[in-house]
Amino acid sequence: MSSSQALIVPFDPSAPSQAVAGVQPLQLWSLTPSGDKAPKAGATATFYNTPAGKTTTISSVGDGFAAKSSEVKRELVRKSVGAAVKELKAFEGVKEVVVDASLDPHAAAVAAHLALYKFTLKTNVPSPFDPRNAEPAKERIAFAPVEASGEWDRGVVYAQSQNLARTLAEYPANMITPTAFTERVRREFEGIANVEIVVRDEAWAAEKGMNVFLSVTHGTSEPAKFLEIIYKGAADKTAAPLAFVGKGITFDSGGISLKPGAGMKLMRGDMGGAAAVVSAALAIAKLQLPINLVVTTPLTENMPGPSATKPGDIIYAMNGKSVEVDNTDAEGRLVLSDAIYYTSTEYKPHTLIDVATLTGAMVIALGEVFSGVFSSSDELWQQLYEAGQLEHDRFWRMPMDEEYLPQIHGSNADLQNTGGRPAGSATAALFLKPFVAGLEEGEIKWAHLDIAGSMEATRPGQYQEKGMTGRPVRALIEFARRLAN
Ligand code: BES
Ligand code: MN
Ligand code: ZN
Repeated sequence: MSSSQALIVPFDPSAPSQAVAGVQPLQLWSLTPSGDKAPKAGATATFYNTPAGKTTTISSVGDGFAAKSSEVKRELVRKSVGAAVKELKAFEGVKEVVVDASLDPHAAAVAAHLALYKFTLKTNVPSPFDPRNAEPAKERIAFAPVEASGEWDRGVVYAQSQNLARTLAEYPANMITPTAFTERVRREFEGIANVEIVVRDEAWAAEKGMNVFLSVTHGTSEPAKFLEIIYKGAADKTAAPLAFVGKGITFDSGGISLKPGAGMKLMRGDMGGAAAVVSAALAIAKLQLPINLVVTTPLTENMPGPSATKPGDIIYAMNGKSVEVDNTDAEGRLVLSDAIYYTSTEYKPHTLIDVATLTGAMVIALGEVFSGVFSSSDELWQQLYEAGQLEHDRFWRMPMDEEYLPQIHGSNADLQNTGGRPAGSATAALFLKPFVAGLEEGEIKWAHLDIAGSMEATRPGQYQEKGMTGRPVRALIEFARRLAN
């Protein structure tokens, strides 16, 4: 019989943990059917009533652990804790799990909470995601480390924020409309100090001259929203902030340039950029990092309704540039252009990072492994790269190069929103560039993150089920934390 209390003990076969009395991982391993072989990384075994009254899962980090780089070690810890959680969560009765996190408390906390997560709206058992519940439900298992530490606690915040981004992206588009998105965000931030949340409507956007953003809203009857989160954590509340801008298309049908039907439901996650930036902001505010941060997300559906924007329409953006909508399915760069211009002029951030499920070409280029980063700042790229490596939420640099410009300068307007198939992710990035106010003057650093490939995991990993990934939430939090310190 399994007990409601369980233990997870990751172990290095050459230096097994002694952190839990009555649990000797090597001796326990020797009792398993594979006990005569060395336990490979991720190999697990579960024992009842060991020690008395508890169920224990031991999980190996594999041979030669001590000699590996810290980056590799952290990922081995995540995988080993993840494998153990996967095994334990199959036991219905398990309610409390104590984790021996001594190998790496942060990584262990991250993996435990990511591995437990599974989105479902099936009703055979009550779902924590059921939108009819007033309160977001608690996790099914309560994790605690053997030894309390700030690193563990921080890891919990990182993972829970990533799980929020996963949830927002997983919800079908009828449940996460622009309005529902902003309401959920308000609820998540309730009671957190130094945060102001502003939800703008279409009339406000019209007044600001955000006609390119609004052009995407014309095909739907669902009201669009423009969300702003202002967090003032720095000692000097007037210091220039860091800014995140997230693409928030709550459903992308393609508009008049309608997408094919097969697999279209993935486009409920076309607000993955918005989900990632608000979730990262939530962690940054929960941790009260000493930094000023502004997050903005243009939120709308992209639909082919009777008033929809038509291919060939030319619209003036907030910065005065004329934009030809060659293809209504290239809507992400349209909503982002006005959002980026507004954010860079209104808040004068020292650094602006936009995050977007922007191009199918990104899926082709990098698949699910890396998020693409376009930046003309070597320094900003380096900082993002390091944060991504630390969290194994990895980035690959892509070319932000003006030689692609002729591809988006071929129409009667200043810019056209498509650049043909070659280097489709690079021309999308270049489209955004003129909307970053202060870039030419060297007053701002900018990076564009294309997460079209990394938004979804099509196969299960060792500490994440398949489905929406919530990336790059952990990399963004880590980036901000390192910037603040
Ligand atoms: N949201 C899509 C990009 C996307 C595709 C994200 C697949 C995730 C998975 C975006 O709005 C889009 O439709 N882009 C077009 C642009 C093209 C018309 C220039 C694309 O990539 O096909
Ligand atoms: Mn599209
Ligand atoms: Zn889109």
